[in-house]
Amino acid sequence: MKKISIAIDGPASSGKSTVAKILAKKMHYIYCDTGAMYRALTYLAIQQNVDFENEQELATLCLEHTISFKQAEKEQLVFIDGIEVTEAIRQPNVTNAVSIVAKHAAVRNKMVEIQQEIGRLGGVVMDGRDIGTAVLPDAQVKIFLVASVEERAERRFKENQEKGITTDFDTLKKEIEHRDYLDSTREVSPLKQAADAVKIDTTGMNIEEVVLAIEEVIAAKS
Ligand code: CDP
Ligand code: CDP
Repeated sequence: MKKISIAIDGPASSGKSTVAKILAKKMHYIYCDTGAMYRALTYLAIQQNVDFENEQELATLCLEHTISFKQAEKEQLVFIDGIEVTEAIRQPNVTNAVSIVAKHAAVRNKMVEIQQEIGRLGGVVMDGRDIGTAVLPDAQVKIFLVASVEERAERRFKENQEKGITTDFDTLKKEIEHRDYLDSTREVSPLKQAADAVKIDTTGMNIEEVVLAIEEVIAAKS
């Protein structure tokens, strides 16, 4: 069967990476977490004291460093210049700054170039904010995942608890709302449902149910 491209977009904690990973594994496709790339750049900017508003210095960081991925059994490992940063890029200091770094056109142009190269031959499940609209506009399957902010904050809260990270639920919810606001109101490639994307409201749905719903969309398009 011909390998297709699957674009999965949506707001924070809507379940994109969890279901994208499962689908990629089942279909023997490449999984590409584009958020991890913006997170890695933000981590680098923090390490090197680069101002999050300095578009040119951020773009230079992209050119001077190599962000790479390696698929492990359970998760996708992320490296900067060969050094693993998988855990470090999920820390709150990165999460709270990433949407500022990701708003710049010069940064996005570089990232989109890399992502399009990864998706060039198809056989990819890519998740992010602008995959269906900007990165893979010709993707055969486009999914836009949503869920109530209450449920999304609940999911992140539980995830943090499992990792032993203490978080205040209301703060977490406010941070998610703020990040969604920044991502959907930026000028360049804002978070937006592509005209030809299928929207799935995952409120009250477990992971298996969401995977099944996406598989139905894939089956209908093949
Ligand atoms: O997994 P989570 O929802 O926390 O976010 P992520 O997918 O790791 O993405 C982190 C941030 O990167 C987002 O809030 C966006 O600001 C940015 N991002 C983006 O602008 N475009 C993408 N294609 C992916 C992520
Ligand atoms: O990638 P994104 O930020 O959209 O979300 P995620 O990291 O895939 O999911 C956030 C958390 O919600 C994870 O702990 C998932 O296991 C959980 N989740 C869930 O409980 N039910 C779903 N239908 C989807 C995700």
